[in-house]
Amino acid sequence: MIWLILLAAYLIGSIPTALLVGKYFFHVDIRDHGSKNPGATNTLRVMGKRAATVVLLIDVAKGMLAASLPLIFNIPVEPLYAGLIGVIGHCFPIFAGFRGGKAIATTAGALLIVDFGMFLAVYVTFFAVIFVSKYVFMGSISVGIAMFIYSLFSPDINEPLIFTAFIIFLIFLHRSNLQNFFKGIEPKINDKKVKGD
Ligand code: G3P
Repeated sequence: MIWLILLAAYLIGSIPTALLVGKYFFHVDIRDHGSKNPGATNTLRVMGKRAATVVLLIDVAKGMLAASLPLIFNIPVEPLYAGLIGVIGHCFPIFAGFRGGKAIATTAGALLIVDFGMFLAVYVTFFAVIFVSKYVFMGSISVGIAMFIYSLFSPDINEPLIFTAFIIFLIFLHRSNLQNFFKGIEPKINDKKVKGD
């Protein structure tokens, strides 16, 4: 049963929302445009506000559902772990050739279920970093750092370790953003176009 629930969490995370919205409503493959990332930020660039809101809400809902599975089926798995497996599904989706998003919206959904205080602290940090820097990827990496700092106050001694790994995972997912930043071509939040697109 535990493995079935974790598999279900992965499959829910694997639903490629941005790809489906692009394909069925805009007849574009988002992986060919903008940053080529199938996430809400790139949906905003390529398909506009309404599509980005839909993608964002569904990607958040995927994280909420994945983290809720142990509670719904009353199995002894930490909702955090089920949520993180949903996040892995979002980033490496079996339904889209393992080319997925960069974790942030689905992580928000998982945290909403796991720990609302942590969700607030982490996503206030996310928006504050974007507000100051104007770079979404910096906000995204700060999500991992804020989770790590918050977890230092948790009684669960595994959490700081898990979130250290999560910071490394986020840096890996945002490696192209970091490369672009150092080349001076990373788009800011209000840039409509990615250079070279
Ligand atoms: O959460 C995704 C964001 O950090 C970067 O998205 O499309 O600019 O690579 P993008």
